[in-house]
Amino acid sequence: MRIDVFTIFPALVDAYSTVSLLGRARKNKFLDLRCHDIRSGAVGIHRSVDDAPFGGGAGMIMKPEPIFGVVERADPPRPLILLTPSGKRFEQSDAEELSRLEGFSFLCGRYEGIDQRVVDNLVDRRVSLGDFVLSGGEIAALALIEAVVRLIPGVMGNEESSVDESFSGGLLEYPQYTRPREFKGYTVPDVLVSGDHESIARWRKVKSLLITMEIRPDLIIERGGITEEEATLLKEYADGEYENFKD
Ligand code: ADE
Repeated sequence: MRIDVFTIFPALVDAYSTVSLLGRARKNKFLDLRCHDIRSGAVGIHRSVDDAPFGGGAGMIMKPEPIFGVVERADPPRPLILLTPSGKRFEQSDAEELSRLEGFSFLCGRYEGIDQRVVDNLVDRRVSLGDFVLSGGEIAALALIEAVVRLIPGVMGNEESSVDESFSGGLLEYPQYTRPREFKGYTVPDVLVSGDHESIARWRKVKSLLITMEIRPDLIIERGGITEEEATLLKEYADGEYENFKD
């Protein structure tokens, strides 16, 4: 997969993506990540990439010429996605969609905004990391790249798993534990060391449902509520019907 990133801080994007999962994906040729400096598309002695807004107001606006220049020269894979808080909020399903493409590109906004002619005539989509404001799109780009690249088959090792995790299935993940079985008097639920795989699966399903209902009830609504089978499972759990089923 080829991903091009247009930014005024190419070193920042490059540094994060040389380590850990992205670093490995690049080394193993799953990912061809190309970081382009927007400033390289700028002209004049100052190579300025921003200017004051027409009509007045605070802050600086990213100029169109450097962005058009660097993007046209790179001829990047499309869609070209602008990272901005005024974009569509990114979700796991978007990561899944992008992971099926051969490539795509990110344009990282900075300063108070970007000339609208870039948005209207160069960019294909606008995406936001969430309903909060960062001072630039670089962290958002890195977050999205990681969310996408980890879904490419073969990128994650056997010891890691991109399935059975939060959001696949529309529920948050159940609690996980590892050794020691007791730590500072805090114990691991008996069911997880029972060896009874059916009970473990039921416990995990109940925990996922309960955590999602508590923290993200919107996800329950989005997936169309809970099934009859899940309702039965929750009732059995509440009634303490299975010895192994308790915490
Ligand atoms: N740039 C600034 N804030 C952002 C956000 N929330 N998402 C994506 N890009 C951004």
